Amino acid sequence: MEERANQDNIPPLQIGLTYNIKKNIKSEIIDIEAELDSMDTVQAIKAALQSDNCQVELMEADDSLPARLAAGPPHIVFNIAEGIQGRGREAQVPAILNYLRIPFTGSDETTLSVALDKALTKRLLASYHIRTPQYQIISQAHPRMTGHIRYPAIVKPNTEGSSKGISDMAIVTNRQELYKLSGQNIAWYRQDMLVEEYIAGREFTVGILGNGNEIRVFPPMEIVYLNRKSNYNIYSYTVKQNYKQLIRYDCPANISGETEKEMVRTARRIYEILACRDFSRIDFRLTEQGVLYFIEINPLPGLAPGYSDYPMLAEFSGMDYRMLVRNICRCALKRYNLDFDFQ
Ligand SMILES: Nc1ncnc2c1ncn2[C@@H]1O[C@H](COP(=O)(O)OP(=O)(O)O)[C@@H](O)[C@H]1O
Ligand SMILES: [Mg+2]
Repeated sequence: MEERANQDNIPPLQIGLTYNIKKNIKSEIIDIEAELDSMDTVQAIKAALQSDNCQVELMEADDSLPARLAAGPPHIVFNIAEGIQGRGREAQVPAILNYLRIPFTGSDETTLSVALDKALTKRLLASYHIRTPQYQIISQAHPRMTGHIRYPAIVKPNTEGSSKGISDMAIVTNRQELYKLSGQNIAWYRQDMLVEEYIAGREFTVGILGNGNEIRVFPPMEIVYLNRKSNYNIYSYTVKQNYKQLIRYDCPANISGETEKEMVRTARRIYEILACRDFSRIDFRLTEQGVLYFIEINPLPGLAPGYSDYPMLAEFSGMDYRMLVRNICRCALKRYNLDFDFQ
């Protein structure tokens, strides 16, 4: 790498890699650190980026990050940081980067704040006539339902990802169960609970890469639940942990061309409405009658190799992990008009 840089006399592209890794906190809440990354993922991204004429500096997103970035700004940051705390935590690192005028991969702070709040995203998308399950918010201040919701319903922390707070017991079939579960979850996860009508049917996830007229939508992947006996199928934290035994990934999914078109078109529309950048992953459910529901969007999808859905979607389309990571970086460089010959 250094040889080529010296030969051609081109200064290497300096990439900062921002992240928050799991600290192995001891807690009775098993998924307390679900959204955080492991060092393996950070190293895999670093290895993918350390290609021709690139230097990668690891930058943990802790209290020292702002000063560190200001003292030696890289040309671009590859950001996977989940942030420190609060409802808009995924927006924290992008906001710092924008403040310091440092280019970075992925969506900006506004998109990340909105998308991390599931109810807010649903409200916004509903105003664009995107179909999403009926819902209510239950909070510490308002622990009772104000309207009607059809059962069964699913109870989810409103501002989480990685199935955090969504166990196999997340389904409630009456008000009593709902209040019991939401009360317990508010205490555990210290945030509002989203109560959503449970959409029975098949589950799909769609990955998007790129910007403007170079957006590429990977073919939808179906999450096929192998236990046909269970009444409710949820892509829960435990299912994600034991995915090899409990689910199968079908890609391309066994759906009609028309359904695929609708899913791809809807995913793309959502990506554009929310002004997503570079990459995102969107979850859907499809009822037996063929009605498509938006469940949620991840503008900062997990990138754990061999585990996360987004790299899997790319892989099914013939884009291996290394290519995917470089492509995300390439999309961002292009967006900023940064002229770099990234192989
Ligand atoms: N309204 C719903 N109807 C049916 N299943 C749902 C619904 N909402 C969530 N799920 C199930 O729970 C899983 C996790 O929910 P999701 O909203 O995607 O949260 P996360 O951000 O943690 O991925 C989904 O993949 C799906 O299996
Ligand atoms: Mg999801």
